Amino acid sequence: MSKGLFITGTGTDIGKTYVTALLIKTLRQHGYDIGYYKAAISGAPTVAASDAGYVNATAGIGEAPDLLLSYLYDHAVSPHLAALWEHKPIEKDVILRDWQRVTAAYPYVTVEGSGGIICPLRDDDQAFFQLEDVISWLHLPSLIVCPAGLGTINGAVLTAFYMKEKGLPVQGFIVNHYTGSPMEKDNIRMIEKLSQKPVLAVVAEDDTLLHADAASLISLYQ
Ligand SMILES: Nc1ncnc2c1ncn2[C@@H]1O[C@H](COP(=O)(O)OP(=O)(O)O)[C@@H](O)[C@H]1O
Ligand SMILES: [Mg+2]
Repeated sequence: MSKGLFITGTGTDIGKTYVTALLIKTLRQHGYDIGYYKAAISGAPTVAASDAGYVNATAGIGEAPDLLLSYLYDHAVSPHLAALWEHKPIEKDVILRDWQRVTAAYPYVTVEGSGGIICPLRDDDQAFFQLEDVISWLHLPSLIVCPAGLGTINGAVLTAFYMKEKGLPVQGFIVNHYTGSPMEKDNIRMIEKLSQKPVLAVVAEDDTLLHADAASLISLYQ
């Protein structure tokens, strides 16, 4: 049985893809065979130019494009809207089939979410579901990526509380764009105090590895 870990975050552009690439690269350097999957990517013309292509190259996975993702949309809008505009509705069956494929190929799979935790994937006459449903279908624990700076306490703690309310297990946070300032250190303390979840690692600008113990990181996959 393959193990998985879902990477969500406090929003778009906060570094989910960047951190996911570092996590996979770091674990692969320790000998773990880690794959990547993202159900729906919007705002990219090709797989190579997308989150999946970036992680595939940066983390040295070297996988064929069609095993990395299920849906690719050109428009840089929420997947549910891109799917409507581009007439390519997201199907639960396709996600489950592709998940079977990627878990058959890798003992550990890192799954990146689209946007933040509240992200509609389908909203039409046939079906309605959101990103959180995918996390439930795949039975994955999650990591929350959040920025280090001003405003992050609100986004990080709200994300953790929302996930708790929805019954989605959270392993902890990874804090991105970390400079080590006194405010950032206190943000970490406050996020841990309010959410009762640990900050597992911090990532500085242009870091090329995740500075955390590989055995602890691999134990996050379930
Ligand atoms: N720690 C970092 N150092 C340098 N660039 C970063 C870092 N984190 C994020 N970025 C850059 O910020 C942008 C948004 O990050 P990305 O990982 O794509 O966000 P998300 O996946 O959450 O939408 C990208 O250009 C990415 O390379
Ligand atoms: Mg991304």
